[in-house]
This record gives sequence, structure tokens and C-alpha cells, in this order.
Amino acid sequence: MDLFEVYKLWDIEPVKGSDTTLWDKDGNIYTDLYGGHAVISVGHCHPHYVKKVQEQAATLGFYSNAVQNSLQKELAAKLGKLCGYDDYALFLCNSGAEANENALKVASFHTGKPKVLAFNKAFHGRTSGAVAATDNPKIQAPFNKTGNIVFAPLNDLAAVEAELSKGDFAAVIIEGIQGVAGIYEPTTEFMQGLRELCDRLSVVLILDEIQSGYGRTGKFFAHQHYGIKADIITTAKGMGNGFPIGGVIISPSIKPSYGMLGTTFGGNHLACAAATAVLEIIEEENLVENAARIGEYFRQELSSDKAVKEYRGKGLMIGLELNEEYIGLRDRLLFEKHFFTGAAGAGVIRLLPSLTVSQETAESFVKAWKELTR
Ligand SMILES: Cc1ncc(COP(=O)(O)O)c(C=O)c1O
Repeated sequence: MDLFEVYKLWDIEPVKGSDTTLWDKDGNIYTDLYGGHAVISVGHCHPHYVKKVQEQAATLGFYSNAVQNSLQKELAAKLGKLCGYDDYALFLCNSGAEANENALKVASFHTGKPKVLAFNKAFHGRTSGAVAATDNPKIQAPFNKTGNIVFAPLNDLAAVEAELSKGDFAAVIIEGIQGVAGIYEPTTEFMQGLRELCDRLSVVLILDEIQSGYGRTGKFFAHQHYGIKADIITTAKGMGNGFPIGGVIISPSIKPSYGMLGTTFGGNHLACAAATAVLEIIEEENLVENAARIGEYFRQELSSDKAVKEYRGKGLMIGLELNEEYIGLRDRLLFEKHFFTGAAGAGVIRLLPSLTVSQETAESFVKAWKELTR
């Protein structure tokens, strides 16, 4: 059987990893400043993570959500403490799209309403509700076009108010910082206004922190920079450091009922062990602070670089919009200097490294960048 070819692949095959270093099958060494789409949060094969996952795999890998699982409770308690939403409740699933899918359903069950407002250039995943709220018609099948989603420009409160005032809205869904779009931040004023509007019109505010969360921006969630709280927060990516897991963090004002949500794999024993190990490492090694510190170093070094038209983002969620003559730099960083980075179209390089990235590694990247752009 052949693979269903939906991915355009680099001709590189990583076979081994350690923190921010990767080895390919021919023994070449790379530095990973992308973490496979922001997934690697505590470094490849962190010893504590490996130990916990190995021990759990050798003890009990899986049982269904029909029995008690204290590993889920342990994970929820730890996450609540670290993310500052101690009084919220956690529903566990397997991916980012699935987290958003469940968040949209919860909001719709709670309000009894069908419609959702999302933002221009948003990316929320590829399952039916999540992709409908994603502003990219190329990845929406006719089946996904429900008519229940309305898009508004980011940072345009008047446009949001005009739509929400029409009624029938269950939720607004917004990324803490837009990722796939090319790293675009909402303003504090907009986010505070959005919070007020959602309160006034009884609309659930869903913060998609799948890319911008888990400490990456120098706070646990990016929206915490704007001084607001969300009604529902979705997480995935860095949550399991590569083990598939997603989470929906739900306000106590939204009540569950048996059967409202469900999943076979979500919150399984192995996933919980992986996710708890990630939180232990984040706490033990002060990785949220490291993300802020190394992010600040990148900003100082690269924001006024001559290749950079605009430096966007916070902490280790970085978008480098390139001046025209430097388009192609990402390939050169990979093939000439062996740095993995990400992209948003041809003109924006995205850095989404592990939160463990060291000052030394950051300096080696800046040196390589300057050598290629001088
Ligand atoms: C903000 C955001 N939401 C949702 C998703 C979807 O996550 P997943 O690919 O795990 O379904 C992504 C993935 O890039 C994302 O960046």
C-alpha cells in the first residue's frame, strides 16, 4: 500500500533527537527551532519524559473512560495550578482540532445557539467545525461549509459587535496569537473589549491556545498578557511533547452532563503520563521564564536586522517577515546551516523552538542568520 500523498516533504529523515538537536538517517546533525509545528515543548527525548512514558507503558498503557483513572485527575490538578485556571474543569482528547471541535460543541450546548464568530486568517484545525472556523476555503470541503460561521477582521471590535448583536451566536473563537497566519497578535484593547462584549451578549469566549499556549509566549497562555480570562481554553501541541493529547479547559459556569462529550482514546494512561511529565519539567526547569528570556534575546538581535521587515510575536512564538530580497532564507538556513524553522507562506519565517532552548543555541542561530544575510 502507498501513502495518501497530502504532504509536500523535505528529503530529510530525522531518526534521533535530544533537546533541540536532531540527527538524520545519514548522521547529519540539525538544530530544531521549530519543534515539528510547535509540538516539542520540553526538548526531544527529555530524560524525565522518557522515563515516565516508559514506566507507564510497562505498567498500563490504556483503559477506556468507563473506569476511574487517577492519572487524569493528577494531570488536571497540575495543569490547573500551573495555568492559573484552578477552578475550571478539563476534558481530555487527542489533538488540537478535536479540542476546538469539543469547545465549539460545549459552547453550543450551553447557549442553545448555533453560530460562531471567528477571525480572518484564523486556523483552528481540519475537523468539520474546526475547519469551518478556519479562514481558508482551500481546506474546506463543501461538507464543511455550514453557514454557521461568520468571520470578522482581527482587532476590529465594531465589526465583531455588529455581528454578535444579530443574535444566535454561541461563541467567539480566537487564537491567543494567530500562528499559521504568520504570527499576528490581537491588541490588549481589542481583547478586553471582546471580553466585555461576550459578557454583555452572553456569548462564550473560546481561546485557542493550541499553538500560543503552554508557556511559549512567556506566560502560560498568550491571552494572559492581555489581562483577561476565557470561558473555554483549548490546548494540544506542546501539551504532550509529541504524544498526541489535547485538552478543553472549561469554566465552572458551564455545566457538564453525562454523555455530552466522549472519546475512546482521550485521556488514556500513556497520554496522561506524557502530559504530566511535560508539566513537571516546565515547572522544575522554569521553562516559561526561559521562553521569555530567550525570546527577548531573539527580539534584540533580529528585530532591526536588515533581512527583517517586521518582527512579530512574544517569547518563543516568533514571526520574522522578510524583506523581498531575502525570500528563500528558510531553505538556506536548513540546507546550508542545518536549522529547522517554520514558514507562513514564502515571506515569513516562524520560530517555535522547544521552551528548553539555550542561550548558546539561540546565539548559534543568530550567527548563522547574520552570515547568510550580510
Ligand atoms: C491555533 C491552532 N489551532 C488548532 C490547530 C490544530 O491542531 P491539530 O493539528 O493538533 O489538530 C493548530 C495546528 O496547527 C493550530 O495552530
